[in-house]
Parts: sequence; structure tokens; C-alpha cells
Amino acid sequence: MKNSDYQSASEFVIFGALGDLSRRKLLPALYQLDHVGLLHQESRIVAVARQDLPLTELIALVEENLTNFVKEGLDKETLARFLSRLVYQQLDFKDLAAYSKLADTLAEGHQTRVFYYSTPPAIYGDMSDGLHAAGLITDDVRVVMEKPIGHSLESSKVINDQVSKHFKENQIYRIDHYLGKETVLNLLVLRFANSLLTNNWDRNSIDHIQITVAESVGIEGRWGFYDDAGQMRDMVQNHLLQILSLLAMEPPADLSAESIRAEKLKAVKALVPIDRSNVKEKTVRGQYADGFLNGSAVPGYLNEDGAKANSNTETFVAIKAEIDNWRWKGVPFYLRTGKRMPAKHSEIVVHFKEQPHNIFKDSYADLPANKLTIRLQPDEGVELQMMNKIPGIANQMNLHENKLDLSFSDTYDNQRVVDAYERLMLEVINGNQSLFVSRDEVEAAWQWADSIIEAWQATNEPPKSYPAGSWGPVSSIALIARDDRQWVE
Ligand code: BG6
Repeated sequence: MKNSDYQSASEFVIFGALGDLSRRKLLPALYQLDHVGLLHQESRIVAVARQDLPLTELIALVEENLTNFVKEGLDKETLARFLSRLVYQQLDFKDLAAYSKLADTLAEGHQTRVFYYSTPPAIYGDMSDGLHAAGLITDDVRVVMEKPIGHSLESSKVINDQVSKHFKENQIYRIDHYLGKETVLNLLVLRFANSLLTNNWDRNSIDHIQITVAESVGIEGRWGFYDDAGQMRDMVQNHLLQILSLLAMEPPADLSAESIRAEKLKAVKALVPIDRSNVKEKTVRGQYADGFLNGSAVPGYLNEDGAKANSNTETFVAIKAEIDNWRWKGVPFYLRTGKRMPAKHSEIVVHFKEQPHNIFKDSYADLPANKLTIRLQPDEGVELQMMNKIPGIANQMNLHENKLDLSFSDTYDNQRVVDAYERLMLEVINGNQSLFVSRDEVEAAWQWADSIIEAWQATNEPPKSYPAGSWGPVSSIALIARDDRQWVE
């Protein structure tokens, strides 16, 4: 894409502009786009929030935030240009009549607008009604919705219905920021641009797949929100299922949004339901207790700031997921994600099948199977574990397990790994929905997740405790060990 393609100005209207997501991710992402010349010179950023705030204070706040969150440091010229784009609009989101003030503010700018809902989803409907009442929803506008869309299938339908009353589906961009990550996108390239993998990507060659998304952070001061959601709704229903669907989907006919989203949807729909009958055998939920991380003591979930004395909310989930279709029958996908694990570490490990017969048994009794590791973060890269002969004549067949290692930082020297939000913002400007989640996908994912949550509630068992700084409850080791396999550490 050439810079000259960004000729039309878009106004970014961020609802909840003073919130955590906007300050940490959205504004820094827009700054980076500005820095590389991908924001039109006339594009404005309209920050909308409840508080009364003079523009000078907003500017000071945004500058401070950018200083904190733009890792590469700020460029003076870009910063001045970026700050001059800011406009502030105070708004009570639930007051329909108040949206006329916003309309007045927007009247001075361009008509191509991106409304970014970075607020609790319960008010997405109110904001859509307000924008409609003020005549702000035209064919030239797009709306971006942050996850989680709802708390369950039912509540997500209500929210989607409220928004769809005013916006057409091709104007709605449901964000899952994992779809903007470099390595997650690379899954498409690895799978469909390499015949070696394309031709071995099924039950005939693959034994099982592990997906680990581990975070060392706790709930970062978000106890209220998190306690209502838990790791299942916060991470599995969206991020982990998006990764799983890209790994499992059939080859799309092309890269269009329709083709990709249709194939991902089929994969999620083919997930075997987990319910009361099998939830104990197929899932583990955990909650972190007091522990140590990098040598320092950290509080358990129930001792975090703002915590209630009792809560059964899970901060860790492990699941044996299965997909009932021709490609994947009998190939488990083991998912694991948690807070306060030893490190921020996300990876996919594809375990290929073992060789049927070992002709090297004199020197290597247990020939290990090949493993493809896709490191999502940090230290993005791809690694293929292979057997190799150690050079030398002393022993004719001395074997060694080694790896072909494509580390992004070594291979693409000086190439900055762009943040997921930068890419996704740009895709919204470009009007490309392929990296956004369709309504059908959101609903299929909720349907699968709801059944697990409902089964957990029915069994009424508290989550298993694990010390902060560990890899989760012991029973998550048992979950995979029952199948004679183990987690890759
Ligand atoms: C968010 C979750 O969607 O993703 C957070 O709400 C989580 O709880 C975050 O920490 C993880 O994102 P990333 O990009 O840091 O892996």
C-alpha cells in the first residue's frame, strides 16, 4: 500500500478516549500511523468521554501517555502534528439528546468517520442510538467494537442487534487484537504458502497441537471487570479460538474477508461441545494464589486490590478441544492460558506423528517426532525441530535433535514488529474486514464457551489453586498426561 492511497481523511471518534485501552493502545497506534505518514494530514482525532476537560488538559494527558507507551520514543515533529489533531467532546453516553453536541463538533470535519467503541459493551446500543438520533450514521462511517461483545451468546445477540439496527454488517468492525498480531497473520502464510506444511496439515501427519497464551501480569487493577468475566470470557472465547480457527480452517479460496471468515466459522462450528457430561475430563480451571514472580512476592487473586474475599472466578483455563471433521478427527488441540504465570509467553506447538519404524534404534531408541513451534510473543519466530546426524566418523549414526530457527528479530533485522492495533486501525481506514470477526463467528464462539461455563457452574467446583509464578494447577498436567502427552515448557 502506497502512502498516496491514504488520500481521504478519516475522523477517528474514540468513545471512552480517557480509558485504559485508548491510552495504552489506540492513541499510541494512531501516533505510529501518523509517524509513518499513514494518517491523512486533515484527519482529526475526536476524543469523547464523560468528564469535563479543557482541550489543553487532554493534550497534556495524551502527551504524557504517548511518552509512557510509545516504546521507541517520540519524534518531536510527529508529536506536534499528532497533538494538533486532537479535539475533545464531553458526552453523557446515555443521553440521546446530547449527541447533537457531538454532531456540531463533527460538522467541522470530514464525513468519513470511524466511531471507535472503547467502552463497556453494555452501552454500545446507547451510543448507536445516539449517533443515529443525531443523524451521524451515514454510508461513509464505520464502527469498531472492542471485545468482549457480551457476556454470553444471549447478551452478545442483544448487543449485535442494537448496533445492527443502525449500522450495516459491512460497516461493523469487531476487533480481536490477536488477529492483528504479526505472528498470528503469519499462520496464513505458513499454512498456505508452504507446500510442505499445506500437504501435511491434517490427521494423517499431525498428532496434536498445543496453544499456550501465558501472561505474567495479574488482573492489572481491573478486578471488577475481570471477576465478572474470568479467563474463559476474557481470553478463550476470543483470542484462543481465533488462533485455533486459523490453525484449523480449510484453505480459503482467496484472502477476502468473506472467504476467510467463512472458513474460520466452519472450524469453530465443528468444535465438539463440552458440557456437563465431559467437562471434568476435558477442562481445568484455576485461580492464582500468593506466590513469587521474578524473585518478588506477588498477591493471590483474592488479595489483589479491590478483591472480594470470595470468588470462584478462574484466572487459568486448560482445555482439550476437539474438532469433528475430516481433517481433524482424533487430533486434540490443547489450549492453555492464564494470568500470573512465570512469563509472558505465547506459542503454538504442532506435534507431528512419530515415524512408524525406527531404523536408528541402535544409537537413538526413541526417535522424537518433528515439532513446529510458532512463537507468538515475545521473541516472535518459527522453529522446526528435526533430527540430524552429528558429523564425524567415530560413530556412523550419531543422531541429534536440532532445530531450524527463523527468529524474526535475527532474520528481519531492524524491522519493527508493528503493534496489532496499528495494523487493525489501518485496515479500518482501508475498509478491509478480513482481520475482524463476523457476527456469526462471535456467536459460534459464545455457543461453545457458554456450554463450558454452564457446565462449570453446574458442577459448582471451585477453581484449583496455583501459586502465582507457576504454570497453573497440577491438574492441567494431568489433563494432557492422561493422553500420554505433555505440555511443552
Ligand atoms: C486482552 C485481555 O484482550 O488481552 C487482557 O482483556 C489480556 O486480560 C490481553 O491481558 C493480552 O493481550 P496481549 O496482546 O498482551 O497478549
